[in-house]
Amino acid sequence: MIRRLCLITGASAGIGAEFARQYAALGWDLALTARRTDRLEALGTELSEAHGIETLAIAEDLGADGAPERILAAIAARDRQVDALVNNAGYGLPGTFFNTSWDDQAQFIRVLYTAPIELAHRVLPGMAERHYGRIINVASLAGYAAGSAGHTLYASVKAGMIKFSESLNAECEAMGHADIHCTALCPGFTWSEFHDVNGTREDTNKMPKWMWMEAAPVVKAGIEAVNRGQPVVVPGMANKTIATLTRILPEPLGRAMVSAQSRRYRRMD
Ligand SMILES: NC(=O)c1ccc[n+]([C@@H]2O[C@H](COP(=O)([O-])OP(=O)(O)OC[C@H]3O[C@@H](n4cnc5c(N)ncnc54)[C@H](OP(=O)(O)O)[C@@H]3O)[C@@H](O)[C@H]2O)c1
Repeated sequence: MIRRLCLITGASAGIGAEFARQYAALGWDLALTARRTDRLEALGTELSEAHGIETLAIAEDLGADGAPERILAAIAARDRQVDALVNNAGYGLPGTFFNTSWDDQAQFIRVLYTAPIELAHRVLPGMAERHYGRIINVASLAGYAAGSAGHTLYASVKAGMIKFSESLNAECEAMGHADIHCTALCPGFTWSEFHDVNGTREDTNKMPKWMWMEAAPVVKAGIEAVNRGQPVVVPGMANKTIATLTRILPEPLGRAMVSAQSRRYRRMD
């Protein structure tokens, strides 16, 4: 029997590695991609042995020209198709718009915005043919809230991923693709390597513990939501409360609250 295959970007750490664990436990084959091959291979071997599934490790920098096409070609070369896509790879770019180079900003936009959208665009025709597909875009609570100073494009690309997911999910429904769903997963602070990579660990460790979630319940919420056909999901009570507040507070008050909070962990240097 051919098992379904899930392609996960950013599978070498954090939320992406947890997506791999949960899809493997559900009996899916996996295509794991990120830049660190050693980690992808170690995770793939561990999950194949534990669950009797097939795994494929694809080393790619999502910011490189042609990366989405090469990732999908590596899967096609194994005669496999993508039944679920988890667009998860990401990072924070510290500093202000003024003091970061265009090269860094352009790479950021490619990794967190254009590459995931291209992957979705390229896998959808196959999903339509097979009448089945799941796309989870890992966005952020930051995409809900007002923008604030520092890490300038982060909220912007995440807001874009939320809107893209809502539109794509609605389109699938309107076009009669009853079993193809797209969901934006919007985590708040989640334990992973994210804040080590962007150099904000010391500051974010000062944030109250109730604001943090483990990756496992975040990922579970994403998988359950996409299976239900829910276009956006915010995992956890604390995050849901913050998301609701961002919708009901008068805009200037919401903006002031976000600015006050984000000054505690967004780097401006
Ligand atoms: N942690 C949080 O608090 C939080 C909150 C909201 C949203 N998120 C979102 O959750 C997603 C996953 O982040 P995480 O928290 O799990 O962080 P993480 O532990 O640092 O993992 C990030 C993953 O992205 C991959 N990645 C980074 N740059 C890449 C590139 N140029 N090409 C290919 N892969 C790349 C990394 O792999 P390699 O380094 O091996 O390439 C790694 O596997 C991100 O989209 C992030 O924005 C995180």
